[in-house]
Amino acid sequence: MGRFTSIAASAALLALASAQTFQRLGTCPTLGCILPPDQADFLPGQYFDLRFEVHAPVNGSEAFNNGVPDEQFSVSITKEGGETKSITEFFKVKEPALEKWNFTWYEDLFAVDAKTPSLVNVASKVFRQLAIYEPGNYAVTLNFYGSEQTVANWVVRPLATKRKAKNVILFIGDGMTTNMITAARLLGHKSINGKYQSLLKLDEFPVIGHQMTHSIDSFITDSANSASALYSGHKSTVNAMGVYADSSKSTFDDPKVETIIELLVRIWDSAWGAVSTAAIADATPIALAGHSRSRYDYGYLVETTLNGLSNYTWTKSGGPDVWFGGGAEQFYPGKDSFNGQDYYAKFAEAGYAIANNKTALAALGNDKRALGIFCKSHFPVWLDRNVLKDNLSGFKNDPFAGKEPALDLPGQKEMTLKAIDILHKRGGDKGFFLMSEAASIDKQMHALDYDRALGDLLELDDTVRATIAHLEEIGELENTLVLVTSDHGHGFDVFGGADTKYLTEATGDRQKRRAVGTYAESGLSQYTVPVEGVSYGTGPNFPVNWDPRYAIASGFSANPDHRENYKLNPKPRKVVEELVDDDYYVNPSDAPGGFVVNGTLPVSESSGVHSLTDVAVFAMGPCQETFGGVYGNIDIFYKMANCLGLARPDAGKGGSCGSH
Ligand SMILES: *[C@@H]1O[C@H](CO)[C@@H](O)[C@H](O)[C@H]1NC(C)=O
Ligand SMILES: *[C@@H]1O[C@H](CO)[C@@H](O)[C@H](O)[C@H]1NC(C)=O
Ligand SMILES: *[C@@H]1O[C@H](CO)[C@@H](O)[C@H](O)[C@H]1NC(C)=O
Ligand SMILES: *[C@@H]1O[C@H](CO)[C@@H](O)[C@H](O)[C@H]1NC(C)=O
Ligand SMILES: *[C@@H]1O[C@H](CO)[C@@H](O)[C@H](O)[C@H]1NC(C)=O
Ligand SMILES: *[C@@H]1O[C@H](CO)[C@@H](O)[C@H](O)[C@H]1NC(C)=O
Ligand SMILES: [Zn+2]
Repeated sequence: MGRFTSIAASAALLALASAQTFQRLGTCPTLGCILPPDQADFLPGQYFDLRFEVHAPVNGSEAFNNGVPDEQFSVSITKEGGETKSITEFFKVKEPALEKWNFTWYEDLFAVDAKTPSLVNVASKVFRQLAIYEPGNYAVTLNFYGSEQTVANWVVRPLATKRKAKNVILFIGDGMTTNMITAARLLGHKSINGKYQSLLKLDEFPVIGHQMTHSIDSFITDSANSASALYSGHKSTVNAMGVYADSSKSTFDDPKVETIIELLVRIWDSAWGAVSTAAIADATPIALAGHSRSRYDYGYLVETTLNGLSNYTWTKSGGPDVWFGGGAEQFYPGKDSFNGQDYYAKFAEAGYAIANNKTALAALGNDKRALGIFCKSHFPVWLDRNVLKDNLSGFKNDPFAGKEPALDLPGQKEMTLKAIDILHKRGGDKGFFLMSEAASIDKQMHALDYDRALGDLLELDDTVRATIAHLEEIGELENTLVLVTSDHGHGFDVFGGADTKYLTEATGDRQKRRAVGTYAESGLSQYTVPVEGVSYGTGPNFPVNWDPRYAIASGFSANPDHRENYKLNPKPRKVVEELVDDDYYVNPSDAPGGFVVNGTLPVSESSGVHSLTDVAVFAMGPCQETFGGVYGNIDIFYKMANCLGLARPDAGKGGSCGSH
């Protein structure tokens, strides 16, 4: 009984690592590791790999057994109320070969400074492509070193097999928090005596919830494993996606979990796509079908999304029906594409229509699969594409190997609407799944460029507005679950107004800070007040003045040393660029006339970092009511899977379990 209820049932006889900022292996505080670890949840019938590791630290505080790992470890699984079976018997699979390796890790900063990593020898086995079909509580047990035991309690959730939504559109405002949404509303929408005259589209959503974003082994997440949690129902480690991070050297052999895309293709043969204003191989879009411990395996992740995994194989996304974004360097042949190959040619051979600019995007038909790669790296942000357009010619980001600027760029809205048309056509009755990411909310928050971040947030809202109108037009609104959420936050907020004229002209950091008006002196938003002779032509729901004298005074809880003037940065901001002896110093050309803000981060950090906050989930459409309340990021996967009827409790062919 205890096995199914206790949170940490593993034997505590061996020395425990303190499991703090430096960990031997996240999710594995003892010397016996089970991946997926304790507390993992599963969708009935979802494929996964199962790895066991036995660690023998050679030295350091945990040194054990002269560094010789137990190769005779045994493993079993028990369904609550049922009998205990070996893994091979339960899943009807063969015993895999034993693997052995070693790795090193630092126990704390003193060890880093002294350059004395601890060395660990490992014995391991991995079982590939398992599935548990019958919902219930399971305990997986690893017996090692004679009397030691690690138990992982798993839950296979009882979820629906019947489909309630035909389509899902998941918008991700990367790094977007409620504070940013509030600030964007202030910039884009006019209020009179405290009452808004128009609102964000997000403000009209009928249901809102909050998700907790923590990684599996750290409370601050990055975009790879948080995206992976949303897409797979399994939390992971910073920089990992679609896998549980193991300790082996290869970033590709880690135990995988099946994602919502792979399930949808396998079960319903639906169409799927991704749109992003980042490189398409960036964490948030690539995690839809990516499996790697390192988000930096860009070329490999593009190759495997198109063709499935060639090693440790079983996952298959079928290739996206629509893939629109940046990151051309993974496509034209060169050092950043997989094995130097030409992925434009590979996609064309696989039957894709290819667009490399906005004009070609608009001209795409809806029948063929489509690849749209519009620039190198990430898109220039909405502000540079729509307001500070002269800046575009300064980029060397054409979607080929050249150094020309990409000038004919679509925005998130054009890409998303075209993606919907193609997916609607190709998915037909089988429906579709689209993820559309506003990537630079996050990227510009990292750079402390709040105007550029909020511009992209308003672009996201504009895209959501146009998407809902378009779904209505094509008769799919009632069939489509529309979600807008984020993957993590940044510690950003607005705390007043700033007189940028006084700030710039005053002398001395302390005098300049008088320009910040708090409470009553924060005043009213000047972003919605038209200025004689100034028109940005960006339409309603965006600021009519991006650079008012009285600007918002805003800031960040996680900043490197920088200079602040609260003014619109005429070019994309570089807060720090001077690197001396591994320390970053304030960039002399950052925020001219501003005052110096000493940072809160290590001086080796060049930009702001993510923060702890829960993030909002806006829901509209079939199953919307299930998205209210507070829950974990993995629950978004289970709620979507439930709405899409992806559980397969009976696929075990009579048995309670099995594998392929
Ligand atoms: C770690 O393993 C590698 C490859 O198996 C081996 O060559 C190396 O000697 C080992 N390192 C130590 C310090 O034991
Ligand atoms: C552990 O052993 C390795 C390999 O011999 C060595 O490099 C490392 O400094 C040792 N670490 C400690 C903490 O003694
Ligand atoms: C896949 O396996 C082949 C050999 O079958 C090997 O050469 C290659 O390095 C492996 N690739 C990865 C990404 O592990
Ligand atoms: C856009 O792409 C089309 C098709 O590849 C090409 O013919 C056209 O010259 C491109 N336009 C620009 C502005 O680069
Ligand atoms: C960016 O564009 C703005 C207005 O279009 C211009 O004032 C500014 O000088 C440009 N900056 C760069 C670096 O081109
Ligand atoms: C910032 O920190 C440096 C030391 O790193 C110090 O010399 C300087 O006075 C500080 N500036 C402010 C404005 O606090
Ligand atoms: Zn992110």
